Amino acid sequence: MIDLHSHILYDIDDGPETMYESMRLCEMGVEYGIDRIAATSHLYNPEEIGEFVHNRNERILRLREQIDKRGLQLRIYPGAEVFVDDSIYTAQHLDKVTLNNSRYLLVEFEFHDVSARRLIRYIDTIFKMDLVPIVAHPERYSFLKADLGLVDFLVQRGVIFQVNADSLAGLTGFAEFDLAYRMVRHNAASIIATDAHSHLGRANDLLRMIRSFPPDIPRESLDYMLYTAPFHVLANKDLPRIRRTELRRRRYDG
Ligand SMILES: [Fe+2]
Repeated sequence: MIDLHSHILYDIDDGPETMYESMRLCEMGVEYGIDRIAATSHLYNPEEIGEFVHNRNERILRLREQIDKRGLQLRIYPGAEVFVDDSIYTAQHLDKVTLNNSRYLLVEFEFHDVSARRLIRYIDTIFKMDLVPIVAHPERYSFLKADLGLVDFLVQRGVIFQVNADSLAGLTGFAEFDLAYRMVRHNAASIIATDAHSHLGRANDLLRMIRSFPPDIPRESLDYMLYTAPFHVLANKDLPRIRRTELRRRRYDG
């Protein structure tokens, strides 16, 4: 399986502090079915992209060396989890922090205080850069939980949603599980990833989490979200189309 959202790199954000901890996450991922990981450390300030890319690439190289030394069957790809606020309007070079240098940009927002209008403007700004936003953990946003029509609208606009495996496994509370599950059942989510931060806490024991997913999620959907869709992202290809059903009817005009 492919884990498209992982804080696998050490000493760069709130993920692992040491190479040892990074390697523990690598080993756990492999043990639980992951063979490809996008290193998506937090990027909070677009003005620091140059420094971020430098630090990230250096850590990826060192981590790959360790992975090779241990003979782990694991590939690490460059990426970032980009925090989007009003600075997006003047941001430059975001194409440098996409997933595996594709057109796909993994993004997150303020958790509680973003209006629908503002969110749509952020999304449109990203599309105007010829990038495709992948919104990380939509189930964690109170404004999306409260407005499924907005989720539908964004899906139709071409936004890709990535739900966290621990949410879908029910490990983070009912509200997050509920939205993650609805989005998966309606094929509004295209990708499942771990958002792992530590082998001790928010980890990447993916196969174990999958065993706690609701049993009525079709096998083909899981294959799509855990392999096919992320594979196409890393290859910078369009995602294969899947039939979607609306979560709720409501109209937005931006
Ligand atoms: Fe994350």
